[in-house]
Amino acid sequence: MPGKRSEKEECCVKPILEVVNLNKEFPVKGMWWQTKGAVSAVKDVSLSLKPQGTLGIVGESGCGKSTLARLILRLIEPDSGEVRLRGDDILPYKGSKLLQVRKNMQMVFQNPYSSLNPKMTLLENVAFNLYVNGVSKHDARKKAHHYLEAVGLPKAFAERYPGSLSGGQRQRVAIARALVLEPDIIIADEAVSALDKSVQAQVLNLFQDLKKEFSLSLLFISHDLNVVEYMSDEVMVMYLGTVVEKGSAQQMYAHPYHPYTQALLHSAPSMDVGSPAVHKHFDIKGELPSPMNPPSGCRFRTRCPYAEERCAQSAPPMVEVSPGYEVACFLYETGHDREKVSHGTGYTVDN
Ligand SMILES: Nc1ncnc2c1ncn2[C@@H]1O[C@H](COP(=O)(O)OP(=O)(O)OP(=O)(O)O)[C@@H](O)[C@H]1O
Ligand SMILES: [Mg+2]
Repeated sequence: MPGKRSEKEECCVKPILEVVNLNKEFPVKGMWWQTKGAVSAVKDVSLSLKPQGTLGIVGESGCGKSTLARLILRLIEPDSGEVRLRGDDILPYKGSKLLQVRKNMQMVFQNPYSSLNPKMTLLENVAFNLYVNGVSKHDARKKAHHYLEAVGLPKAFAERYPGSLSGGQRQRVAIARALVLEPDIIIADEAVSALDKSVQAQVLNLFQDLKKEFSLSLLFISHDLNVVEYMSDEVMVMYLGTVVEKGSAQQMYAHPYHPYTQALLHSAPSMDVGSPAVHKHFDIKGELPSPMNPPSGCRFRTRCPYAEERCAQSAPPMVEVSPGYEVACFLYETGHDREKVSHGTGYTVDN
C-alpha cells in the first residue's frame, strides 16, 4: 500500500474512473402508447475518482444517484456523455470487453435481503459469481472461502443460508460476493442505509479495512451526510440530476459554498457524542420541483434565497473556487458575495 500522497502528487494522479457530461432522460408514458414527457434524471454530470480514493455522492431522494451508478456500470445506457475507465471510454464496449469492465466495477446494493439467493449457501452465493465467469468449482469455492473470511464471517458460516443471518451479516456476504471478482472499483449504493446504527458503523469500518487491504477505489452513494463524511476523501453533491458542488470532503464539511450544500449540511443531525440531535434546521423553501419539468437555468433557483434573474436564463457552469474544488453557482463566478454566502446563510433558522 502506498503511503499518503503529498498534495503535489495528489493533483497529478490519473483518475481510475471519470464521467464526462453524462446525461440520461427516462421517457414517461402517458395514456396508451403516448409518451407524456421525460424525467431528466442525470444532467451533464462529470466526476473523477482517484485510485484508492473514496468519492461520496450525496443528495436527496430522487436526485439521480442510483441512475448515475447504473449508467457507470452500463446497466442502462446514457443518452450522451462518456464513462472512462483508466482513460478509455467504455461506452462503445460490447461482449467480453464489457464483461471485463463489469467484473472490474462491482456494486453493493442497499438491500442485502433481496440481493442474495435464499436457496444457496453463503459459499455458493459468493462462488456463483465466479462460476458464471468460467472459474472451476474447486477454485471458485476456495476463493469464496477466502473472501467470506476477509469480510469477517466465521468459517462455519459458509454452509449456512442467508435466511439465518442478521442484516449486517448478509451485507458482509454481499460485499464478499462483490470482492470475489477482484474488482478495482466498488460502487456502494446506500449499502448501509437498511442497517441499525451500530451495525452501520461496523460495516463502514469493514469497507475502510477492505479498501486498504485490496487497494479498492470506492464510489460511496448515500443520502446520509454523516456516513459520507466518515467515508469520503471527496464528495459530490447532487440536486435534481445535476452536480452543484464537488471537492475535498474536509473542505466541504467545514466550508460549503453552494446554497444547497449549505442548507443540506446545516440540516443534518450531528454525529458528535453529547451534542443535540439537530442543532439548527435551515428550511429550504418550497417543494422539490418535478424532474419531468425542472426549472430552467439553475435547477435550484426556485428554492434559492440568492436567486437572480440570470439564474433562470442559463445553468451556472462549474467554477473552480480553489484547487480541485468546484461549485456550480453564479455567486462564485466572479467572487462577489462570496463572504456572505460562505459564512452566512440565507435560510430561515428554526431552532
Ligand atoms: N427506470 C426509470 N424510469 C423512469 N424514471 C426513473 C427510472 N429510474 C429512475 N427514475 C427517476 O429518475 C430520478 C432519479 O432517480 P434515482 O433512483 O436515480 O434517484 P436517487 O438519488 O437514487 O434516489 P434515492 O435516494 O431515493 O435512492 C427520479 O425522479 C426517478 O423517479
Ligand atoms: Mg437510489
